[in-house]
Amino acid sequence: MHISLKRQVALVTGASSGLGASAARALAQAGAAVVINFHSKAEPAEALADEIRAAGGQAVAIGADVSKEEDVERLFAQTLEAFGALDILVANSGLQKDAALVDMSLDDWNTVINVNLTGQFLCARAALRQFIAQGMRPDVSRAMGKIIHMSSVHQLIPWAGHANYAASKGGVDLLMRSIAQEVGVQKIRVNSIAPGAIRTPINEDARAGDAEKKLLELIPYGRVGEPEDVANAVVWLASDASDYVHGSTLFIDGGMSLYPEFRGNG
Ligand code: BGC
Repeated sequence: MHISLKRQVALVTGASSGLGASAARALAQAGAAVVINFHSKAEPAEALADEIRAAGGQAVAIGADVSKEEDVERLFAQTLEAFGALDILVANSGLQKDAALVDMSLDDWNTVINVNLTGQFLCARAALRQFIAQGMRPDVSRAMGKIIHMSSVHQLIPWAGHANYAASKGGVDLLMRSIAQEVGVQKIRVNSIAPGAIRTPINEDARAGDAEKKLLELIPYGRVGEPEDVANAVVWLASDASDYVHGSTLFIDGGMSLYPEFRGNG
């Protein structure tokens, strides 16, 4: 199977590090022109854009806070200015503000819901409006547009001490499936990826020192994931190779969502 995203434009939110950066790099390698959105870290986003351009690809870095409506509108307008179209949205921006529920501040609750859930709504809405405005581009894809939501195994697995994060990802699941039900008829494909423990800055603490050994007890396949494990799936979901995949969540978690603690127990 050969995947090419040539002449397609992809916008990846939260792409200055972690899963977003890796997805942007992989989409560019597959031939897409890529918008690397960042919130506050312009430098690594610009460096990634430079790297992609140096390798012969097309990329720009654009700052925007996905939880703010006016920022999102500007981000999509600048995407059009840069590349003239939009074919793929990877709604990836996400963060954690962990605390036991009794100690969780309203601020920490709101920040996580605003970025992880409202941000996905605002970006998906802007992408849908753009897909519909530009119409089918049969020379580039069988679909009128593709949206990939970055969810988490915690759309399924409850997570003590992280209720805001788990609630936001549970929300992403039904947001994605409701949008998919709504826009499939327009030939817009909408799916989610639910990563488990992947080696990115978001879970540095869970991997530091002896912690990684404990983390591995939750992963039947016996290793922590690498960002490329997720990026490869992003490219596939963005391509016509997955043209019949719609409204699905692809778990990329080494089996974490299989409840491995039940092995030989229960
Ligand atoms: C979280 C990580 C965590 C992983 C598995 C992800 O969604 O962001 O911090 O390691 O889920 O629990």
